[in-house]
Amino acid sequence: MVVQLVAPRLMVMGGGAVAKLPETLAQLGLSRPLVVTDPFMVSSGMVERALGPLHAAGISAAVFSDTVPDPTDKVIEAGVAVLKAGDFDCLVGFGGGSPMDTAKAMAILAAAPEGTHIRAFKVPAAANAAALPVLCVPTTAGTGSEATRFTVITDTERDEKMLIAGLGALPLAAVVDHELTFCLPRRITADTGIDSLTHALEAFVSKRANPVADDYARSAMRLIAPNLRRVWADPKDVAAREAMMRGATLAGLAFSNSSVALVHGMSRPVGAHFHVPHGMSNAMLLPAVTAFGLEAGRARYAEAARVMGIAGEEEGDQSACAKLVVELRALNRDLEVPTPAAYGIEAARWEGLLPTMAQQALASGSPGNNPRVPVAEEIVALYRETYAG
Ligand SMILES: [Fe+2]
Repeated sequence: MVVQLVAPRLMVMGGGAVAKLPETLAQLGLSRPLVVTDPFMVSSGMVERALGPLHAAGISAAVFSDTVPDPTDKVIEAGVAVLKAGDFDCLVGFGGGSPMDTAKAMAILAAAPEGTHIRAFKVPAAANAAALPVLCVPTTAGTGSEATRFTVITDTERDEKMLIAGLGALPLAAVVDHELTFCLPRRITADTGIDSLTHALEAFVSKRANPVADDYARSAMRLIAPNLRRVWADPKDVAAREAMMRGATLAGLAFSNSSVALVHGMSRPVGAHFHVPHGMSNAMLLPAVTAFGLEAGRARYAEAARVMGIAGEEEGDQSACAKLVVELRALNRDLEVPTPAAYGIEAARWEGLLPTMAQQALASGSPGNNPRVPVAEEIVALYRETYAG
């Protein structure tokens, strides 16, 4: 088996790493960054954690802070206009998944001929070119976007979250500092944390799994699973925050070199149509989708349960799998993940959109990586099952 692997060229990890941003730029021969972030990072002062060290090092960084949650084609176009109007040699995505994904998509679109729409790069197209390098500084643990060859952008005309994949979306460098997560609200901590657990689990059970991605996934699950409740209970639990951050980046490396699967395939349409945050819509779907795939991927799910510490080392596959689903449901309860109904999504609207959502899920290609590959009707049934929990 020949495995092709991708990862950022340089990764700086650990408490206080963000202060090394100027050195990291210098190592890469870069000096004119455009920092891509969101309005909250600016108003809360968080972005100063990156800008302060840059300014101290004599680097004048411009800021594009119009990123929105679930970044849209329109925001990418606005960002590219700012990019082209200035004299920049790199982008720094600073924030959660949205600013990082925005920076990546800006670099990809800026490399395309004038007038190209970002949807031209939707999978199965390959987005291998970028106009300039992207550095990522995550403030959540997390989407893992700092370590992946993916970006997800919303097509506002079609209400579709598009998966865009290729080397153009792979950051040149990542600066991963768990101290940036200490002030995260509990809800975001939980949602992004379950997202990262989903990345590791889906990479591990994926039809596109390989031994190297497996090792990343195992390490990620070992770090994330026991620490989700700890960061929920105590946002200042330094050891748990550190483990979550490392786990989230390793989970990013896992799915970037394997894939995500049915949870993510079904989650993107929920986000696109109902604006449920990405990690939360994954969490809503995770127990039912795991139960659906269990028989087809039994050995893998069972090993995942053991790695997460949910099942004993000597425990049989059947029992380990059963415990995995029980734990995923318990996790949602403990971390107060709402059902779509409890989130306020109207039943008639949910029901009416299910055929479209199932088609969009299938078109993304992610369900095809699942141990059990569903047909459209099975996806509709899973959405129905998830609605009221
Ligand atoms: Fe995700």
